[in-house]
Amino acid sequence: MTRAVPKAEIHCHVEGAASPDLVRRQAEKYGVDVSSFLDEAGYVWSDFTSFLAAYDGAAALFRTEEDYALLAETYLSDIAAQGTIYAEIFVSPDHAERSGIGTEGYLAGLGTGLERARRASGIECRMIVVGIRHFGPQAVEAAARFAASRPHALITGFGMAGEERFGRVADYARAFDIAREAGLGITIHAGELAGPESVRDALDHVRPSRLGHGARAIEDPALVERIAREGVALELCPGSNVALKVFDGWEKHPFEAMRKAGVKVTLNSDDPPHFGSSIGHEYEMAARTWGYDAAMLTGFTRTAIQAAFVDEATREKLL
Ligand code: HPA
Ligand code: ZN
Repeated sequence: MTRAVPKAEIHCHVEGAASPDLVRRQAEKYGVDVSSFLDEAGYVWSDFTSFLAAYDGAAALFRTEEDYALLAETYLSDIAAQGTIYAEIFVSPDHAERSGIGTEGYLAGLGTGLERARRASGIECRMIVVGIRHFGPQAVEAAARFAASRPHALITGFGMAGEERFGRVADYARAFDIAREAGLGITIHAGELAGPESVRDALDHVRPSRLGHGARAIEDPALVERIAREGVALELCPGSNVALKVFDGWEKHPFEAMRKAGVKVTLNSDDPPHFGSSIGHEYEMAARTWGYDAAMLTGFTRTAIQAAFVDEATREKLL
């Protein structure tokens, strides 16, 4: 029923979008044993920490420009086939350094993948550079400096991912100031693994126009009201939250409660194959769980495009 609905995805980590098939092929190519995080059925993890280990294990198998071109092209072609017209991917200079390719080759490869997917299906895509919170404030600041000092037509935002329970948001404020001054759109993971305090800190210290998740703000009605009043868009990822046991099932997820409270809500897949999801699955499950029709679902896509870190001419075309 949701196949024909135009979709947008504004919260997906590119390394987390690598399918088990692609990762197996990469593992063969480089002669790496992946059995600690991948089996016949897919990725293997049991909590956020082991999820991050599986994520890092897969990321380490992408080492050349062509590897990254293939990663981005495969993911974007797949979601284009699911009806997606626009996507933003989180890209991580830290993972580029760790895999040995370095940031220039990483961006060049991803850029090639974006271009190939656009030519094949028409899908538009932009990149959001992220710092990794548990690597500490200095690393996140370095990621921000990189994003700010390296103009790239397809890098339009800056964010922070990783372990939300690590450190204090205030210690990362400088990184976001650097990115904001460079004209980049601002988003931050908050309200996924930690509660309302974490979301409030993110709003106060980072002043993002979007929150990565923000779902656990639901625990504080005054905070939900503030998010609605300030027009901060939520990059909600219900399938991810359910898989990581942030909520006890789709019917317990606050997506509909947030929408009813007047919050700008969007549907996203986060790290799709890790969580048994895809953007198409998120739309389908939202329709089944909360009874949304095609017009409502299209409305979430429009909200995502309105909140997107994209030039106005492209936004107008997509709307
Ligand atoms: N949360 C935080 N950091 C991440 C995630 C996530 O779901 N995926 C990749 N990095
Ligand atoms: Zn995420």
